Amino acid sequence: MGDFVEIFEVGPRDGLQNEKRQIPTAEKIALVDCLSRAGFRRIEVASFVSPKWVPQMADSAKVLAGITRADGVRYAALTPNLRGFEGAVAARADEVAIFGSASEGFSRANINASIAESLERFAPVVAAAKTAEMPVRGYVSCVSDCPYDGPTDPARVAWVAGQLFEMGCYEISLGDTIGQGTPERIEAMLAAVADVVPVAQLAGHYHDTSGRALANIEVSLAYGVRVFDAAVGGLGGCPYAPGAAGNVATEAVHVRATELGYETGLDAEILHDAADMARAMRRG
Ligand code: HMG
Ligand code: MG
Repeated sequence: MGDFVEIFEVGPRDGLQNEKRQIPTAEKIALVDCLSRAGFRRIEVASFVSPKWVPQMADSAKVLAGITRADGVRYAALTPNLRGFEGAVAARADEVAIFGSASEGFSRANINASIAESLERFAPVVAAAKTAEMPVRGYVSCVSDCPYDGPTDPARVAWVAGQLFEMGCYEISLGDTIGQGTPERIEAMLAAVADVVPVAQLAGHYHDTSGRALANIEVSLAYGVRVFDAAVGGLGGCPYAPGAAGNVATEAVHVRATELGYETGLDAEILHDAADMARAMRRG
């Protein structure tokens, strides 16, 4: 049996948040229910953010209330502040995520705060989560490039990742938000981050704008990273990152990881069905 690679499914959140058509809650629930049968350990399904900023995620509590929870699957939600955290707890999310940025421009555009202010906002979320015994994941966006500030210095990524890790995040997901990273630059970024966060606590979150996400995953695998975020059907983008394409497609990561001799624990047929559903949702 090969080494295990975990794909963290983010399609119902990162994938759908950018869709212009308001997708009916029932369709979102059906997608999550299909994904729940595929063998994932973690699925990001919700986002407790301002509905004015991201209208598509306004029904997050209803999605969490409507899904059929599968044993062994943790259902995750984004929570930018304490209010979001309280919403996630009330909706019975199994884990939450705070999301920061390695670049100032994106931090301001995405969460209306400087990097320093965002860390101040996250601290009480992590403290509340600790009291509630809720795991917290930390995202760092723009680990390669920022749509506003250009290329990101790996030392900045390492600094923000280290802050989130020290705060108590159990895993740091490194976001190539606009998919401009090359394998060489992703490797340099990982080398900087690995000095402050153990590689076993890192995840790669690569958008596929330039078609290099799989190459970036391969270089990360060689570096020892074993968790990758992906979205079925390659859904997605970020409303505050102009030009961001979808996340790398889950089914493509599954195929590549399997070819390389890794186990993903995922059922290819169910992934195929979920990808069809996701693409149909996009077409409306
Ligand atoms: P703000 O304007 O600085 O905060 O927004 P505020 O406290 O002044 O609140 C503004 C309004 O939002 C108020 O409502 C609040 O009540 C409301 P109003 O008075 O205008 O009617 N509000 C909330 N409503 C619901 N839930 C909440 C909440 N908090 C405040 N939790 C805030 C700050 C963070 C809220 C805002 O900027 C926001 O919601 N941003 C959305 C960011 C987002 O969801 N981006 C997409 C996800 S990140 C991503 O995709 C990247 C990632 O995939 C990794 C990668 O690819 O790099 C993770
Ligand atoms: Mg993303």
